[in-house]
Amino acid sequence: MLKRLLPFVLFVCLSCHLAAQVQPIVIETDHTALVLTVGGNQRLLQSYLGRKLVAGAYPGGGREAYLTAGMDNQFEPALRMVHNDGNASLELKYVSHSVVKNGDVSETSVLLKDPVYPVEVTLHYAAFGASDVIKSWAVIQHREKRPVMMTQYASSLLHFNADAYWLTQFHGDWAREVNIVEEPLTNGIKTIESKLGTRTNFYQTQAFLLSLNGKSTETAGELIAGTLAWTGNFQYTFEVDQRNGLRMRSGINPFASEYYAAPGEIFTTPAFIFTWTDQGKGQASRNLHRWARSYGVLDGKERRLTLLNNWEATHTSFDEHRLVELFDEGKKLGVDLFLLDDGWFGNSFPRNDDKAGLGDWQEDKKKLPSGLGYLVKEAAAKGIQFGIWLEPEMVNPKSDLYRQHPDWILKLPNREEHYGRNQLVLDLVNPQVQDFVFNIVNDMMTKNPGIAFIKWDCNRSMTNAYSPYLKEKQSHLYIDYTRGLYKVMERIRIKYPHLPIMLCAGGGGRTDYGALKYFTEFWPSDNTDGLERVFIQWGYSYFFPSNTISAHVTSMGKQQSLKFRTDVAMMGKLGYDIRVNNFTPVELAFSREAVKTYQRISDVVWQGDLYRLVSPYDEPRAVLMYVSGDRKRAILYNYLLQTRRKDIFGRVKLEGLDPQKKYRLREINLLPDTKSAQPDNDKVLTGEYLMQVGLNLAPGRITPLSSNIFELTEE
Ligand code: GLA
Repeated sequence: MLKRLLPFVLFVCLSCHLAAQVQPIVIETDHTALVLTVGGNQRLLQSYLGRKLVAGAYPGGGREAYLTAGMDNQFEPALRMVHNDGNASLELKYVSHSVVKNGDVSETSVLLKDPVYPVEVTLHYAAFGASDVIKSWAVIQHREKRPVMMTQYASSLLHFNADAYWLTQFHGDWAREVNIVEEPLTNGIKTIESKLGTRTNFYQTQAFLLSLNGKSTETAGELIAGTLAWTGNFQYTFEVDQRNGLRMRSGINPFASEYYAAPGEIFTTPAFIFTWTDQGKGQASRNLHRWARSYGVLDGKERRLTLLNNWEATHTSFDEHRLVELFDEGKKLGVDLFLLDDGWFGNSFPRNDDKAGLGDWQEDKKKLPSGLGYLVKEAAAKGIQFGIWLEPEMVNPKSDLYRQHPDWILKLPNREEHYGRNQLVLDLVNPQVQDFVFNIVNDMMTKNPGIAFIKWDCNRSMTNAYSPYLKEKQSHLYIDYTRGLYKVMERIRIKYPHLPIMLCAGGGGRTDYGALKYFTEFWPSDNTDGLERVFIQWGYSYFFPSNTISAHVTSMGKQQSLKFRTDVAMMGKLGYDIRVNNFTPVELAFSREAVKTYQRISDVVWQGDLYRLVSPYDEPRAVLMYVSGDRKRAILYNYLLQTRRKDIFGRVKLEGLDPQKKYRLREINLLPDTKSAQPDNDKVLTGEYLMQVGLNLAPGRITPLSSNIFELTEE
């Protein structure tokens, strides 16, 4: 017995000795510090999270940084593990830490061990200096003889001690994504989560704002903005205790996901990405955008392609002649690419609606007798690039794939199949299915290297949640599915590192930074009505930069003018999904010019700093602007929503400009032969004036659902 305990005793003494010397572990960005210290019992404590202090004298003490279950903690744990002997307790004591710096990023790793069981956890914190973002995740490993079972394995736990907490969540449904609700947290636990597996953000966007002490505004107040980089079930819990302390936990949703970790297996949680600021919600968004463009989104600093999509114009009814005509329409508009949507594949079961064909990724010989190669060539000959829609993770029962590989499909062996949009989910846990999905892309790209864009769709959530491949390890399904998806994306990205791919899941069902590292943009909603899109794009703007938010001009929302719908799409990543041949000459002239204008201003829209000036949740209008990094240019958007003709609006003070600089204000994107009604149009005004006095953006008669775009250029 003594022999068995000896190494453990030595280990404890060693860590006691070390603990006495451990200096606070300060994880810093340009303006933020997260400070960890080692307590008398060698446990790791979170001692501070807030503004970086110049003198660096941070408080000590605090609450345990990564709470475990089964010891003295009686609140929600970050980690709960059941050992081989059935004991469900875990204690994590500080062992060592290290910091690795790489340019603007410094990564701190803190190693913790249980003194009784051979379990170690390394907490990782990557701090991104200029963007004030911290990414935190945990790596869990053990050396017990048999697998241990984990019922909770959080990415991160953060503690707060504020007078009050205001949580902003973003919930929705198909075609009504990201509705903003802000409410105070009360004692107990508030959970935001998804159990949907695939298309995981169908009802809840995977991100939140947490304001401390009181509500924060766009320009003032202390808050964190957080989001989990995981394309599967996620969970955030906000637990307010008896003393008004808050524990905020984030990670994979452990629902139906007891995880059996094998000895030596490295279990890496997804990263929780957050920014802290005391400058309000606007600053939090700008921090995340800056981080995302450099680190979070594939090719976040590169150009995006404007495009014409055929979904809303044709649905699945087209043939190759019609498509070639549509290339001409795209060309007329002046966009970079034509995107062929759903309906181009399937022969035994042609994809003429959503009831058949998914899984059979061969060109429909009736619709496309000359094949994709012909389309790519024709597009090139007409001077437009060609992109294509795929939904590689899914299968319709009416398909060859379903008949050939029933064992590749998630379904309960002894129950009836349950469908969503007439389809089932493939078992991406199975390496053969991963190969199949990789090869859908790889074969297509090998045969048609000219394909310049993919829209990757995923139109149903995961029911029938049973993997034939996992057999008795079903509780790994939700986690291993997402890992399977990432394995496929890794392989695609090794071979096709820069191919633009849009992330789509029946509208905004997948919007997270776990996926966006492989994707260049996402489809926020199938709702493309301009008025609705003002709200939807506004919601996503809290977390995602505009070059990731695809926004198409369509004929949905006919009560709005084409100008209004175009102005709305121009605040995101512009595309079209409309019958261009139905345009009047004026509409065509306007749209051609709009595409050119967008291409000219898009560097500011995509890479600039966003300032949300008037929220559509506060007034029947929305005003926002993007300012270039050097503050020499800005683009200002003004949308009057469901206003009454006699509504009176106050002046809008601009933000983010240089008060010393002089700017010329010019209304752009006007309809042909119309003049700006803005009294300050074409005037040169100082940044100070624009920010202190502001502009009257609703002069004269008010037209509901009208809009303006202004360009400000330094003189
Ligand atoms: C989903 C997408 C749409 C379109 C259809 C095609 O609903 O969100 O944009 O691609 O699928 O079936």
